[in-house]
Amino acid sequence: MTETAMGLPLSIPLAAVVSAAGVRTIAGNELCAKMTLEKVSVLYEDFVAVTGVRLPIYANKITAIIGPSGCGKSTLLRSLNRMNDLIPGSRLRGQVLLDGEDIYAPRVDVVDIRRRVGMVFQRPNPFPKSIYDNVAYGLRLYGTLSRPELDKTVEYSLRRAGEVIEFNTTTGIFTKPKDKRTEDYITGRFG
Ligand SMILES: Nc1ncnc2c1ncn2[C@@H]1O[C@H](COP(=O)(O)OP(=O)(O)O)[C@@H](O)[C@H]1O
Ligand SMILES: [Mg+2]
Repeated sequence: MTETAMGLPLSIPLAAVVSAAGVRTIAGNELCAKMTLEKVSVLYEDFVAVTGVRLPIYANKITAIIGPSGCGKSTLLRSLNRMNDLIPGSRLRGQVLLDGEDIYAPRVDVVDIRRRVGMVFQRPNPFPKSIYDNVAYGLRLYGTLSRPELDKTVEYSLRRAGEVIEFNTTTGIFTKPKDKRTEDYITGRFG
């Protein structure tokens, strides 16, 4: 991605950032950027994957980053909560401001940043824990530890995700399924 005079990375053919950048007010109130990218470049070793992006991201507005494969969308997104830190050889130049604070400044608590800037991935990727623990993960992170409260919310969430056929401990489900459909899923009948 490269910078334009407007500060939006529009110069690669088909690459565009559609954002609320043109919208300055809602009902007369000045829009305030929740996050601001200031001349952000991201490098993998010597390779520059993102070049000088300047972009406001407004709270409660949708900002879409669109472009051809390999133009740097994922790299740019990962820079918003320092997930690129986990890639050896990756470096960032410029500033990513969250509520006016540079998230790459020394002594910033990276875990706190990732708590505040969440990501939903294209492919769900459960942690190697039980489904219960995966669904309860966010609640526990935010301090909900009471078992009845967790049970209630996990069941509510799973029921909303689709039809719950049966539930039990992992061993119970695998060794003594009560419903024929559970057995079919376990034996791979549905692929
Ligand atoms: N971990 C990595 N190490 C080195 N180069 C990478 C890495 N991840 C992505 N790249 C390169 O950075 C560029 C942008 O990649 P990416 O952000 O995945 O693009 P997009 O999400 O738009 O398809 C590509 O040239 C890609 O090969
Ligand atoms: Mg991508």
